[in-house]
Amino acid sequence: MSCNTTPFDYRPMTRVVYGPNAIERIGSLTAELRAGKVLVVTDPGIVKAGHLDRVRESLEASTLEVFVFQDVVENPTTKEVYECAEFAREKKIDTLVGLGGGSSLDTARGANFILTNGGEMKDYWGYGKAMQPLIPMVAVPTTAGTGSECQSFALIADAETHQKMACGDPKAAAHVALLDPTLTLTQPREVTAHTGIDAITHAIETAVTKKKNGISTVYSRRAFQLTIANYPKVLQDSKDLEARGAMLQGASFAGLAIENSMIGAAHSAANPLFAHHNVVHGEGVGLMLPAVIRFNGRDEEAAGIYRELALMAGLVTPDDAPEVAVEALASQIEDYLRLADLPTRLSDYDIPEEEIDALAEEAAKQWTAQFNPREVRKEDFGHLYRSVYA
Ligand SMILES: [Fe+2]
Repeated sequence: MSCNTTPFDYRPMTRVVYGPNAIERIGSLTAELRAGKVLVVTDPGIVKAGHLDRVRESLEASTLEVFVFQDVVENPTTKEVYECAEFAREKKIDTLVGLGGGSSLDTARGANFILTNGGEMKDYWGYGKAMQPLIPMVAVPTTAGTGSECQSFALIADAETHQKMACGDPKAAAHVALLDPTLTLTQPREVTAHTGIDAITHAIETAVTKKKNGISTVYSRRAFQLTIANYPKVLQDSKDLEARGAMLQGASFAGLAIENSMIGAAHSAANPLFAHHNVVHGEGVGLMLPAVIRFNGRDEEAAGIYRELALMAGLVTPDDAPEVAVEALASQIEDYLRLADLPTRLSDYDIPEEEIDALAEEAAKQWTAQFNPREVRKEDFGHLYRSVYA
């Protein structure tokens, strides 16, 4: 195995705590942050599943005053973020708990920028724009997907223009990521399906980006091993706690890989599908991933890495040529999409073929496209979309 010689500069920012029923420790972990008034940011589904009760019980047992903002929506916009920040300001909140999927964590993180640094969300679009310290945040994921709990970015859409803004700052990383697989047992199957394929996509994309390095590779490889082996298990048996735990760890490790290496063209191609046709993020990246693997597989270095992954997953033998491994990896993802009842063709959505050029133009402008191992121009994205169209 070759050593990646790209320089890196990595300082872990988040304390990561893992364990079945680890949620019972949230009170003591939050109290350690000198918390007094805690705002739990979550959505009604999480409340209904009973997770908020477990969190509240533990926080109150540590004599913390608990407030709840439960108006998080999927793909949060500036509207919910400003409402959440306003509520936190009114209640003089000193610590945030993001409880839920990526949307809850993004809303809490977005509100933290506004609460502590003022202004508008677009002021923080990019990286490192917050001048003042943020208040501490505890991130508790209830899905195994985005890896947001281990990242320093909030993805927030402008409520008027629908433009998605990635707002990052090292100060916005959670102080604690609390990973409890028992919280992921209640997810509906379709959520397991699209969040899990998102995590797999993160593991595969981070393995080959231009920014990959020695640290991202550690997290990316382990994330791949865990997610590729356990995705079929959680689809087959939603209560398999060991497999749920592996997916949760895998998703978080992939999140740590993204912090260090960024992601690639499957994400660039999925963003316009969401923006114009509401294609769920995980569905979009999963749909595009096999085509992106085949496209990147024409790059010698990327093909070599895909071969390592395919070997790790037992899809090929050491005697198989890299092109065989690239195809095996792409086919495995297609098999997983079918297993998970996820769309495998772009035409499964109500998207006219004539729109592909416009989508491709937008995909090529995505920030993530620059990190893809092969240059992806507008024509390439057109080719990628057409290859999965019908
Ligand atoms: Fe993603």
